[in-house]
Amino acid sequence: MGVCPAWEVPLADAEPRRATAVAPSNIALLKYWGKRDVRLNVPETGSISVTLAGLETQTTVAFDDALAEDRVVGTGLDTPTARSRIVAFLDLVRERFGVTAHAQVRTESNFPVGAGLASSASGFAALTLACDGALGLGLEVSELSALARRGSGSAARSFFDGFAEMDPGSRADGSDAFAHALGPPELLPVEILVAVVSEQAKAVGSTEGMARTAATSPFYRAWLDAARDGLPRLRDALLAGDLATVGPLAEESAMAMHAAMLSSRPPLLYWRGATVEVVRRVAALRDMGLGAWVTIDAGPQVKVLTEPAHADTVAQSLAEVEGVSRVLRSRPGPGARRVEPRVAGEGA
Ligand code: PMV
Repeated sequence: MGVCPAWEVPLADAEPRRATAVAPSNIALLKYWGKRDVRLNVPETGSISVTLAGLETQTTVAFDDALAEDRVVGTGLDTPTARSRIVAFLDLVRERFGVTAHAQVRTESNFPVGAGLASSASGFAALTLACDGALGLGLEVSELSALARRGSGSAARSFFDGFAEMDPGSRADGSDAFAHALGPPELLPVEILVAVVSEQAKAVGSTEGMARTAATSPFYRAWLDAARDGLPRLRDALLAGDLATVGPLAEESAMAMHAAMLSSRPPLLYWRGATVEVVRRVAALRDMGLGAWVTIDAGPQVKVLTEPAHADTVAQSLAEVEGVSRVLRSRPGPGARRVEPRVAGEGA
């Protein structure tokens, strides 16, 4: 990692050092569930994701010597842990780059937070890029990805346009555990439909859930083997732009992960009744010849991968399933980027 020596960062500034970044959410086509180092947040296995267009978090950070403590405002901060995770990340940035100032953080997501839509992915990617800009760190994208990983494993994948692969690395310090680009949004013609069945925050967060699965599921090792086996196959199919192969592999990955979750003690059951009904509906659509496959994260929402030509029909069918409150539509989109605040004068 290119660590910026403390003497390169101004020690006291009259003006706050401020920057704004936007980062998208992403969903894993090939999931990770389990950490090889919990403190450094290093995954056991690699993962492959699609960057979601239009599901974004905008974050402004201002490091200000006049502040006595960090101030965090915005959406998705209803739980005490959400705020403390951001402060812990700021502490990490301060320690690594020799910064003493506290920060004001304003973060806004345009999609439901805390229910399996990877708000932590977009949130920590945006926070990382905003910190980089505010402090003038000039980090490489691999360094940004590895740093964002400390906030949330999936955040490491939100920097890239289109599709990304997370490498678990092998170094004990986690410095080679970061994501890289797999290809632009056009690589795979696909629409991603999110059938929202509940907007309540999930009961068990992913860090606790992963630890429970690793400690108690008799299928944990088998799940890791399945993930390692599936990754190169899904990568090859993706690079060939072959949705008819990517779709089933993505569905298998999600189902194998949920099998490991369900076999944990006590079981991790993230699904609701409507989750099952959506899975059944997608299977029925497939029986009718429509290319559609499900993937599900640590929450009740079902994400459906479908051919763009069939997306309207599939979206309408999902909206008719009892218990589905709405269907969000997305496609592969752009990765994280620096922006000016949306409204002049807006900011932290
Ligand atoms: O790293 P986290 O806390 O965002 O956990 C991600 C876990 C899954 O979404 C279930 C899988 C994945 O690879 O994104």
